Amino acid sequence: MGRRGAGVFISFEGIDGSGKSTQARLLAEALGPDTVLTREPGGSAGAEEIRRLLVEGAPARWSPETEILLFTAARRDHLEKTIGPALAAGRIVITDRFADSTRVYQGAARAARRPLVDRLHALMIGIEPDLTFLIDMDPASALERGLARRSGEDRFEDLGLDFQKTLRAGFLALAQAQPARITVIDGARAAHVVANDILARYRAWCTA
Ligand code: TMP
Repeated sequence: MGRRGAGVFISFEGIDGSGKSTQARLLAEALGPDTVLTREPGGSAGAEEIRRLLVEGAPARWSPETEILLFTAARRDHLEKTIGPALAAGRIVITDRFADSTRVYQGAARAARRPLVDRLHALMIGIEPDLTFLIDMDPASALERGLARRSGEDRFEDLGLDFQKTLRAGFLALAQAQPARITVIDGARAAHVVANDILARYRAWCTA
């Protein structure tokens, strides 16, 4: 199952408040207790520490370059400690965000730093998910949902509606460029309807 022959690597992507975390959890529950559910930034002890530096504080806290390095450092630790070992053991790994988030948040939305993002990814990460679900959502409703949570992790949500619109366009452009890996899911439906859709598409992918 999956391109590696050992383990399956699935990512969920989308703008803040799109419901992707709920959907990642629901798919993990549907696929059984051996599934590893993880998230970025974070997913390992070291990467969770880096997460705090990234998601809390003023929006202009880091330069764009420093921010890309921190996300990549967190991802590298996540890969070494959590994702890599689980895939090698033949498990299904579901991550709430992976490298597409950096391509969009750091590479597209905040000045054109995509070449830098791509070079660092090739140098330090080097793998892509087998399958990515992009939960697509109207930015105004998604932003309302995201800020309503008041998690204290609002550094990116604080950047506002225009930023979220740019992010959505960035994610959709990635999906258009890589249709074999990225499946766009309409997130503006009841959570259980979205979850059934995702499970059906996952099952179809497994047998394709
Ligand atoms: P979360 O809300 O999905 O937990 O993600 C935390 C924030 O970090 C979210 O606003 C998106 C942002 N982010 C990036 O800007 N670049 C990245 O590479 C990742 C993984 C997340």
